[in-house]
Amino acid sequence: MRRVLSSLLGAVMLSSSALASLQIVPGGTWTASNGEHLNAHGAGVIAVNGTYYLIGEDKTGGSAFANVNCFSSTNLVQWRYEGALLSRAAAAGDLGSGRIIERPKVIYNDKTRKYVLWMHVDSSSYGDAKVGVATGDSVCGKYNYIRSFRPLGFESRDMGLFKDDDGTAYLLTEDRKNGVRIDKLKDDYLDLEGTTSTYLWKDHIEAPAMVKVKGRYYFFGSKLTGWDPNDNVYSTSTSLSSGWSSWATFADAKSNTYSSQTNYILDYGNGNVMYMGDRWQSKNLQSSSYVWLPLTIADGKVSMKNRASWVPNAGAGPWAAAPEQTTYDDTKGKYSGGAKEVSCSKCSGGKAVGYVGGNSTVDGKVTFSGIRSDKDGLSTVQVRFANGDSKPRYAAVVVNGGAPVKLAFEPTGSDTGSSSLNVRLKSGSENTIVIGGVDGGWGPDVDQLMVPVQ
Ligand SMILES: *[C@@H]1O[C@H](CO)[C@@H](O)[C@H](O)[C@H]1NC(C)=O
Ligand SMILES: *[C@@H]1O[C@H](CO)[C@@H](O)[C@H](O)[C@H]1NC(C)=O
Repeated sequence: MRRVLSSLLGAVMLSSSALASLQIVPGGTWTASNGEHLNAHGAGVIAVNGTYYLIGEDKTGGSAFANVNCFSSTNLVQWRYEGALLSRAAAAGDLGSGRIIERPKVIYNDKTRKYVLWMHVDSSSYGDAKVGVATGDSVCGKYNYIRSFRPLGFESRDMGLFKDDDGTAYLLTEDRKNGVRIDKLKDDYLDLEGTTSTYLWKDHIEAPAMVKVKGRYYFFGSKLTGWDPNDNVYSTSTSLSSGWSSWATFADAKSNTYSSQTNYILDYGNGNVMYMGDRWQSKNLQSSSYVWLPLTIADGKVSMKNRASWVPNAGAGPWAAAPEQTTYDDTKGKYSGGAKEVSCSKCSGGKAVGYVGGNSTVDGKVTFSGIRSDKDGLSTVQVRFANGDSKPRYAAVVVNGGAPVKLAFEPTGSDTGSSSLNVRLKSGSENTIVIGGVDGGWGPDVDQLMVPVQ
């Protein structure tokens, strides 16, 4: 009887159970398919045919414009690097060297069948304060840059885009002198409609983003504190042009929105609405991390709790709290080659395993065996680590004798961090995870593994 049941249920259960342990770990290093920390800062998301495209700033070289990057995912956890939509031009101009291109956002125009990209365009001293527009024939292909301008003649810094249910689209724009605006776009989304804003708040709010839930609009933004985070706020109304509520916080007061700044709000179905924020590292922008958390939105009220990790369940059902996890301390690992215990003040027990990696003579490794999972399937294992360098370190991770996976570990200063390893575990207590170096380089100091039981 049990057998019959499980085979009957098998087909329906597959999609949700396959995702059950894939987690978002806010603030951690998220390694994309190219073996590097996800590099899509100030990003937006567009869903096309069940695939999410994350489009954001490449900060590898610092603040100056290098690329607008595109990554894809079907589960919001594993991200494939697809390429750049726009890249720095050899010639001087909006896209030349030393320019600022921030907060790229893409929406699809059903009439022209073009993907339309808007972005903040500026000089290195932020004196231009313009928006730029480009179009693409495919979501992650090369875009054609059209022009930059000041919307309705006003300064425009942080910006967002919003496409309403009826296909009407709006620019959300921070005008430093006058406040934050909602401006209607023309049918082709390439310019503004009319000569006045749909709405203007005379408050100083940047990082604008908007979502519509059950016929009600929710506009999010932050106060102006440079790269440092603050308690972000929202306002809500059933009309874009009037009736907006006074600003209110949605994260725990004085948490500075769990040390992040709004970049996008994603409704990904099944009642799931996700806050997407940047945790900027102003001295090392490429290592800025992502704080994505589930929002609770009901009857005009928004709230958000902090979580060390959680399960988005994209395409499968409602989001879920983190599963129960087993912690494997570095002292449970078997060290080989040059790997040895090092002191690490913020690590558990004040120790970690160091000298992982190195040349082929020392070839330090740490092997964790006897790792338990109660399910076959994809899981997010959190590798807790320290990296005191100013650059990322890398490890080659082998799970159950499979192909090595390259994992990145962004700088942690004197603290520790988490790097997400998304891998397939077998049911039982026989899983093995080996962490070694990449191409002779040193890996991170490994503190512990946190492995979902289910
Ligand atoms: C979406 O999927 C359909 C059916 O597979 C395909 O015809 C269409 O081209 C896809 N659209 C995009 C934008 O990829
Ligand atoms: C390999 O690395 C070790 C430790 O850094 C060093 O002492 C040794 O000289 C290196 N060997 C070679 C062949 O480079």
